[in-house]
Amino acid sequence: MYHVNIVVAKNPAEVGKLAADQFEAVLRVKPACVIGLATGSTPLPLYRELIEREKAGRIDFRRVRSANLDEYKGLAPDHPQSYRRFMQENLFDHISIKPENTIVPDGLAQDVDAMCAAYEKQIEDWGGVDVQLLGIGHDGHIGFNEPCDSFPRMTHEVELTDMTREANKRFFDSIDEVPTAAFTMGIGTVMAARKIVMVVTGADKAGILRQSFFGPVTPQVPASVLQFHPDVTLICDEAAFPG
Ligand code: F6R
Repeated sequence: MYHVNIVVAKNPAEVGKLAADQFEAVLRVKPACVIGLATGSTPLPLYRELIEREKAGRIDFRRVRSANLDEYKGLAPDHPQSYRRFMQENLFDHISIKPENTIVPDGLAQDVDAMCAAYEKQIEDWGGVDVQLLGIGHDGHIGFNEPCDSFPRMTHEVELTDMTREANKRFFDSIDEVPTAAFTMGIGTVMAARKIVMVVTGADKAGILRQSFFGPVTPQVPASVLQFHPDVTLICDEAAFPG
């Protein structure tokens, strides 16, 4: 088993700063790096920090390429709850990254297999992900890889669990509007990233963090696979720290 770096921050804002340090370090060494990105509430302080740091001249996104973890099936890119729109509003519209250098799975794909294969190929053509950002769901999901019997390898379609739809309904008018399926990078896609940074905040995540990093590696707790990645930094706040 590899060693996981665990950094405990005081609060979500500090989690954002420490995660930004990790991205800044990669961007300085490799200005044309490929970054893997996540949506959700937890990365927001990090995205604000990255925007500020580019404004301050500390980092530069002009040569960066980015690939997002996932997208809801059936949502158009400009749908208010789509992950593409989330990324535009919370990061891409405020930094110098070129629009053609950002990819998010196509929620409206008709030929799902072709879209998923093309997504994998684009990442491969870019030379793979240098640093992948992850959050974690209460059931241990990473991306939208929900607990299941085996670790999915590539980008694929998933049915969302009731727990995940319930957790995400806060962004929609009602639970009925939360899509029932999504497209997500596979566990294999995530594990192929050279470096992984996971951000986690809040006492409600402490239990699943304990299971993920101190329990057995099992596809029933998808994040537990990270114990087998050689370069994972977990940045959590005091409330989420499972120690
Ligand atoms: C989002 C994603 C999800 C979230 C997870 C935690 O792109 O891949 O796995 O990271 O659901 O979400 P928050 O941060 O909202 O608690």
